[in-house]
Amino acid sequence: MNADGRTRLNQTPEWTALAGHREELADTGLREFFAADPGRGAGYTLQVGDLYIDYSKHLVTDETLRLLRELAAATDVFGLRDAMFRGEKINTTENRAVLHTALRAARDAVIEVDGENVVPGVHAVLDKMADFADRVRSGAWTGHTGKRIKNVVNIGIGGSDLGPAMAYEVLRSYTDRDLTVRFVSNVDGADLHEATRDLDAAETLFVIASKTFTTIETITNATSAREWLLGELKAGQEAVAQHFVALSTNAEKVADFGIDTANMFEFWDWVGGRYSYDSAIGLALMIAIGPNRFREMLAGFRLVDEHFRSAPAESNVPLLLGLLGVWYGNFHDAQSHAVLPYSHYLSRFTAYLQQLDMESNGKYVGRDGQEVDWQTGPVVWGTPGTNGQHAYYQLIHQGTKLIPADFIGFAEPVAELSDGLKAQHDLLMANFFAQTQALAFGKTPDEVRAEGVPEELVAHKTFKGNHPTTTILARELTPSVLGQLIALYEHKVFVQGAVWNIDSFDQWGVELGKVLAKRVEPALTEGARVPGLDESSKALVAKYRELRGR
Ligand code: F6P
Repeated sequence: MNADGRTRLNQTPEWTALAGHREELADTGLREFFAADPGRGAGYTLQVGDLYIDYSKHLVTDETLRLLRELAAATDVFGLRDAMFRGEKINTTENRAVLHTALRAARDAVIEVDGENVVPGVHAVLDKMADFADRVRSGAWTGHTGKRIKNVVNIGIGGSDLGPAMAYEVLRSYTDRDLTVRFVSNVDGADLHEATRDLDAAETLFVIASKTFTTIETITNATSAREWLLGELKAGQEAVAQHFVALSTNAEKVADFGIDTANMFEFWDWVGGRYSYDSAIGLALMIAIGPNRFREMLAGFRLVDEHFRSAPAESNVPLLLGLLGVWYGNFHDAQSHAVLPYSHYLSRFTAYLQQLDMESNGKYVGRDGQEVDWQTGPVVWGTPGTNGQHAYYQLIHQGTKLIPADFIGFAEPVAELSDGLKAQHDLLMANFFAQTQALAFGKTPDEVRAEGVPEELVAHKTFKGNHPTTTILARELTPSVLGQLIALYEHKVFVQGAVWNIDSFDQWGVELGKVLAKRVEPALTEGARVPGLDESSKALVAKYRELRGR
């Protein structure tokens, strides 16, 4: 029994049924599934918005899916979903509502937190962002010396960096190419140095993105950026107002830093950092792509929100994707999940998903405070597909680990490519389809022999197959499609956290390292004694100081 009175997940009849079913399927694979049901390729598919989802290449049958949905019902995934959409405080360890869905709600929607409708506030900030973005884009907003802003540098980390940085790359072909937009996150001074070294400070706007406005990396970089700017402009504090804006929930700290709170774009504690890039945290992105494109992206998010909220379990895509992850993580011992986009523009997509998924579901303590005794969030990894094919796909095909993967591709290349470059798109997608086929069906020893391969190489050239993949296909990569994709993954992560009975919206696991870093710094700089420093770390600190000549 859980501390909250619920049956332990792995003692529920639904879990036991899935474990038994897994054993029954042990000797059946994708070749058999397709032989038994030739319509599976077209049948095991769903459509949500512009996204065509093919799940035919999964190690599942109708019965598996039915049993997984029963597990979802037993763990009340939809009950928790409804509580989230209603604004209930389902982030229990922080006593907060979880309302990133309100960030893209329609203007006339009503969503209450503590009796107050939060939607008008959301749209007021979006309107303020749009006004500011338009002024920067048109040149109406100028720097301290009167020069037009040509460079935007976002300083933030984690959820205050990964989302806008990823989306900026994804939507690059929609950006104003006359603007240089960069993202600085690392407290390694090299990051800020490389981002600013070729910029004219008079033309540069810094966007300081931090929900708490206390994150040491961000505040340190923001302080250095301010020094750089004032030094370059040979100006005093009065120059800050035209060159610094803040995205935060913490007006007091923003004012302490010296940023005019009139130039602060607000969001709220019911938005988690990793769920925030469609809030004020997206300002640099909005400046780059313009308010209309940003709103198109929000509409894409909203479309999938509505689907998640209202589609029945049988056709609910985030539910399906979440449950497939449970199937592999809990019943096939898969430890990781690869996300492999076949689009250069999605080069930062998986890095973004790493925080979304791993910071949300990388937990061993359940919502009831008890340790779980089942696997929770997977290691999420991956890079754009064709590059991966020449690097780590070998292990996916013939390694000893089961790695479920998402393949994401588009029918059309982006519009601005030359005809010659557009012609490469079919080759890109041929690789996409070839890989999912090879992963699923492999090559039997007999097929290898039939190619005349010498017997001693047959085993080496055999592919067992049965590597499960989801294909996500859309016609083209638009702002709306990006919003749809991100909302899909947000809700998939939600489903898994609900099944595993963990709070997907806190992140206590990152705190200890932060606290220790603050304690260790004086040991590095001044040789101060750090109480409680272990022997290994003490020796390393001494070595570091020696190498630095201290
Ligand atoms: O280190 C974890 C974290 O709290 C993330 O959850 C968050 O996205 C990031 O730090 C940045 O936090 P902030 O926006 O408050 O600077």
